[in-house]
Amino acid sequence: MSWYDWFASIYDNSIEAAYREYRAPVAEALAPASGSLLLDVPCGTGQAFPELVKRLGDDGTLVGVDQSEGMLKKAGMRVDKAGWQGVHLVRASADAIPREAFGSRAEAPTPVDALHVFLGMSVFSDMEETFGRLWSLLRPGGRCVLVDVHAERLGLQGFMVNRIARAEIRRRFWEPLERSAEGFELRDLPFQRQHGGQIMLAVGTKPQNP
Ligand SMILES: C[S@@+](CC[C@H](N)C(=O)[O-])C[C@H]1O[C@@H](n2cnc3c(N)ncnc32)[C@H](O)[C@@H]1O
Repeated sequence: MSWYDWFASIYDNSIEAAYREYRAPVAEALAPASGSLLLDVPCGTGQAFPELVKRLGDDGTLVGVDQSEGMLKKAGMRVDKAGWQGVHLVRASADAIPREAFGSRAEAPTPVDALHVFLGMSVFSDMEETFGRLWSLLRPGGRCVLVDVHAERLGLQGFMVNRIARAEIRRRFWEPLERSAEGFELRDLPFQRQHGGQIMLAVGTKPQNP
């Protein structure tokens, strides 16, 4: 059992409240069009799903990818409970998502309309490489939102967050998107000491001719 499989057993009880207030504004910033295909990676236990699914409408598709079986099991329970038909869960590493994850769009060179990465950039083992792989799946004109915690220096709380979440919150997680996107914006979200740093949202659109 991996660390994240174990963490999944307490994840919702310990984490959900700390990020709840951000889920709606982040989904709003991503603004997926109704009927689009949205990739949520890493999806964890699916805490972002309610606000994302609401915006995708009945004919939209949410593909939730995570490498932890334990996290996906919890996400599956959330999906079953809500009865969402358009949510598909895939166990994979974010840098090696199999094409079949995108269903009828599996053959499309850029199957993803909207990319949602919430507390992912700080945990991917190679943030630049993984972002590059995910960005290559996004269609030109598609939108990407990255949300993460950032601290230039670690205080005690930041140190604890890094240990518990297996994260590195000193990363300047927004930089790969800033270099690649049009209309790039970086915003601070309301501060909470328990995150160990400043929670920030980065958003941008993939250029038509990247
Ligand atoms: C802090 S949680 C964030 C989950 C979710 N996005 C949220 O906002 O609650 C980090 C997640 O990243 C997943 N993860 C870490 N490295 C990954 C990778 N390379 N590919 C896919 N998932 C990964 C873990 O299994 C865990 O579910």
